[in-house]
Amino acid sequence: MQNFHFEQLKEFNQEENRNSVNVLTLDDFDLKGKTIFLRVDMNCPIDPESMEISGTKRIEEAIETIKSLEEAKVVITSHQGRVGNKDYTGMDKHALVLEKLLNKKVKYVEDVIGIAAQNEIKNLKNGEVLLLDNLRLCAEENYEFSPEDAAKTIMVKRLSKLFDLCVLDSFPSAHRAHPSIVGFPHMLPACAGRIVEREVRNLDEIMTVAKAPHVIVLGGSKVPDRLEAIKMLIENGRADHVLLTGVIANVFMRAQARLKFPLGIKREEEVVAKAHSLIGEYPDVFSTPVDIAIDKDGERVELDVREIQKGDKIYDLGPKTVEFYSKLIAGAGTVFISGPAGFFEKDNFRYGTISMLEAVANSMATTIVSGGHLTSVLKSQGLESKINHISTAGGALVLYLTGEKLPMIKALEAAAKKHQS
Ligand code: 3PG
Repeated sequence: MQNFHFEQLKEFNQEENRNSVNVLTLDDFDLKGKTIFLRVDMNCPIDPESMEISGTKRIEEAIETIKSLEEAKVVITSHQGRVGNKDYTGMDKHALVLEKLLNKKVKYVEDVIGIAAQNEIKNLKNGEVLLLDNLRLCAEENYEFSPEDAAKTIMVKRLSKLFDLCVLDSFPSAHRAHPSIVGFPHMLPACAGRIVEREVRNLDEIMTVAKAPHVIVLGGSKVPDRLEAIKMLIENGRADHVLLTGVIANVFMRAQARLKFPLGIKREEEVVAKAHSLIGEYPDVFSTPVDIAIDKDGERVELDVREIQKGDKIYDLGPKTVEFYSKLIAGAGTVFISGPAGFFEKDNFRYGTISMLEAVANSMATTIVSGGHLTSVLKSQGLESKINHISTAGGALVLYLTGEKLPMIKALEAAAKKHQS
């Protein structure tokens, strides 16, 4: 996946008008009989053994917008996973889940831009719903473009002429300048779907009342993305303390030379060097674990960080770290938590993730919980009502909170300007 979107974001923000957002919504259009390109984010966790969808939250979220389009001809598009990763699959299973949730037929075509997909789109009738295959089957969808260049991709050139309106509702991919996100709204009238509308409204309200100190609890596995976002969060005054968990904590512990062996992760030397320079630049901001839990033949074994050996499977935070992090969370004005603190899918290693969420839920701070994994744990613990804003978006939300304007928001604003002029 190309990574130059961070550079693009900086360019996008030169004449920036921080988070205040001006986009059209479904209420601004007469939808009856129109053919709609609907971009959602049904990128779901996939069980690596059964290859079944193991969490349907993002499909459930798509339903509200699809139902708002019931008098139109709706073509739903999404990506699933990344090319080369285990969760990269077709969308056939998503079609079945959608069908159950909508309680009506969902047409599905194993194609994105070919004749088969085009014919299905042309033959749609009012009230019908069609799901295309994984957008990332199309090579172009794996690269980032300016809106003008995205509009020149074969995907956008071929498909945009079949649609009347582009509805963007994939908030979790709002940071990706892919053709489906920035190309279609360049060619078609475009508006936000219900998820994007709600996320933007809630987040803007929250960020206007957000108070220091800003505490960020950061875990998860997409380390390169996270490192870029951390820098922007600190520079934009949105991160006074960063409490690290999960794989990213291990990367920082290596950068601090507290772990002295390779972790065996992708682009390891590059991310460790970046973490090292961040620690040098902002020495008082980062906290890393003092103790962790490893998996030893299926058992949870807690260790001081100094006792970790090469090859140990670090799967969770230890109790001293939980206590230390919880105190910092209790003293926060605003807390943002993104990414699980460990291998929470295994019962033995849920403790850190649950404890961090409990600390966030019990704090007096303004609270934001981000990412599909955390939202499902939050739900299972019955803590949802204690959180100010919950979003299944991960990386996109982290970047949104930096104050940077994301490619999808830029594209929607440009479309609104065009519409109003
Ligand atoms: C996400 O889950 O963060 C979004 O679906 C974006 O996925 P990506 O990081 O593979 O672009």
